[in-house]
Amino acid sequence: MEQGQTLLRRIELYAGADPQRRAVAAAVGAIAAASIAISELIGQGALAGITGQAQGSANADGDVQKDLDVRADEMVQGALKSVPYAVLASEEAEVLVPGDPKALISIAYDPLDGSSNIDTNMTVGTIFSIIPNDPGVAPFTASGNCQLAAGFVVYGPQTSLVLTLGDGVDIFTLDRAARTYRLIRERVKIPADTAEYAINASNHRHWEQPVRDFVDECLAGADGPRSKDFNMRWIGSLVAEAYRILTRGGVFLYPADSRPGYGDGRLRLLYETHPMAMVMEQAGGGASTGRERVLDLAAKSIHQRSPLIMGSIDKVKRIELLHNDPDAASRTAPLFARRGLFRV
Ligand code: F6P
Ligand code: MN
Repeated sequence: MEQGQTLLRRIELYAGADPQRRAVAAAVGAIAAASIAISELIGQGALAGITGQAQGSANADGDVQKDLDVRADEMVQGALKSVPYAVLASEEAEVLVPGDPKALISIAYDPLDGSSNIDTNMTVGTIFSIIPNDPGVAPFTASGNCQLAAGFVVYGPQTSLVLTLGDGVDIFTLDRAARTYRLIRERVKIPADTAEYAINASNHRHWEQPVRDFVDECLAGADGPRSKDFNMRWIGSLVAEAYRILTRGGVFLYPADSRPGYGDGRLRLLYETHPMAMVMEQAGGGASTGRERVLDLAAKSIHQRSPLIMGSIDKVKRIELLHNDPDAASRTAPLFARRGLFRV
């Protein structure tokens, strides 16, 4: 694939004459078109009447809806009107939106991820997952392994679209003058081991022990069991964290915790963790709940949550080991472990 190739050319080449692939390509094209308009709107901010103010309403999962959440949802749904889909699942809609039952695909999306950051001029994004519409299978009840395509757009200093069509991950950046996405990186590979981690540390007291053990190992730095200094990042915007991990590795955790309603973490399976998990795995990284692959989970309800630990494969494996073998932390570092010399 040549550098600078447009997204539209890329999806056209992928689709060929295959009807299901043509539907996937149409969906990606429509989401890309909506994202260009969303990017322009966000870029205008208050000049376009976007304040980041709460609408006084909450979405189906209880998050406060911002003015832009609602606008972005209308823009994505509007763009998808030209696409043959069976069912849509949107973060902003309480229930599934039916389309043509004979269509070959269904689409889940988060129109504006990280929108609690919008009033602070920080990076936000749009996430999408495209699945087959199989007769006899209720929509959005299969595991994440069935996804045909997934990706996300980040509205940052640059607007970039990350895409997997099931054969690696490519990144396209918006050429604003031409209003088109152009390829900037293909077959992205996440470094296997890195020294950067991201977690909302204010929840420390609510975490399970394996998550505390991992973060303690990182905090102990060069003097600790990992014998290396770590760096911490927390943006509070999933798309921005995922983009950073694709660029330079690292691990992101939104684990289950003991707060009421957080038994499965905070992020939603169908339009947040399934698509992120597909992107991470397709880039050679991992995505786990701590105990199992995120892609092996199947949803029972549209806004179901799942824990997400994603990024560099060595770190994801280490965190899984800490969950599945409670003595792993003490074995690695008897002096530092919670039952070791320096702890009681
Ligand atoms: O969509 C949920 C989201 O905004 C993610 O983008 C982000 O990772 C997370 O919530 C932040 O949650 P918290 O409230 O813990 O900062
Ligand atoms: Mn979100």
